[in-house]
Amino acid sequence: MSLPVLTAPVAVEEDPLDLMDEIDSLKKEKDATILAHFYVDGEIQDIADFTGDSLKLARDATRVTTSTIVFAGVHFMGESAKIMNPKKRVLIPDMLAGCSLADSCPPEQLAAFQEQLRAQGRDFQTVAYINTSAAVKSLCDWIVTSGNAREIIDRVPKDKEILFVPDQHLGRYLVEITGRKMILWPGSCMVHEIFSIQDLIRAKKKNPGCIVIAHPECPQNILEITDVIGGTEKMRQYVMALKEPTTFLVATEAAMIHPLTKAAPQHTYIPVPGIMTSSGETCACNRCPHMARNTLQKVRDCLRDGRPEIEWKDYFQQARAVLDKSLL
Ligand code: 13P
Ligand code: SF4
Repeated sequence: MSLPVLTAPVAVEEDPLDLMDEIDSLKKEKDATILAHFYVDGEIQDIADFTGDSLKLARDATRVTTSTIVFAGVHFMGESAKIMNPKKRVLIPDMLAGCSLADSCPPEQLAAFQEQLRAQGRDFQTVAYINTSAAVKSLCDWIVTSGNAREIIDRVPKDKEILFVPDQHLGRYLVEITGRKMILWPGSCMVHEIFSIQDLIRAKKKNPGCIVIAHPECPQNILEITDVIGGTEKMRQYVMALKEPTTFLVATEAAMIHPLTKAAPQHTYIPVPGIMTSSGETCACNRCPHMARNTLQKVRDCLRDGRPEIEWKDYFQQARAVLDKSLL
């Protein structure tokens, strides 16, 4: 007797145009608004009602008039949208879309470290990058994004020390531009940490007259040979302001090429490749695996099924007070 052969179910590829149509009608039927970060696939950005960087999307989330928000991004972004809109239903296409930066700062470890600093008599305020869990936000005094960090750091009283979490590279850059002393948490982004400096130098030589634009989550060695340092919205504004066709070497998540090309199609954009830490070989790891979990299919499914949903937690209330004074 022959045994039945078990094969893994094959994911059915659906036509992107059909999916877009379906998403459009589901949006109306379910009274929903779609927000998409610049790092999700271009086709999701194209069907979104709002696209932007973390700062703009957090602000946009407060202006939504529908009863449901679908946040195509990563978990902490969906949490922030829920915190700002407790009465709305906030859905995210994939609950497993996390963030290496947010994961590098667990709330229990932060609380223990703050306790230790207090026991040493240190007088400090905690400033968190928005790429943190809501539980971490609830332990902090201020939240910054790449778009407003300098302004918020200026609001921290001068007589206080600053504990900056969780991105050591953004923190180091902020020390450089604000002149404030900071205690830096040793976290980093898995995408921005591994850009290949050799490939960037080679690409600069091959493209005379090019402009390097890099996100401040990149390490110092990359930022030292960068012409324009800024978050994703600052990058977009910069390329739009330049009318003369130019070649840009882009050191951030590769999906960013989509909004840059849309905003300023006269330029050429070359994504800077990453480098595999295990073998030292150049790789396509300039795509964030968490952002890449967002697909058109999952956007359709979560609209249709009303899940996965970000549920309200008690500590969101405290996180809200910190977000409100920092972002609005
Ligand atoms: P911004 O879009 O705010 O620059 O953030 C980049 C990022 O890494 C989001 O995860
Ligand atoms: Fe987090 Fe980096 Fe991915 Fe942004 S790109 S979501 S910081 S892991």
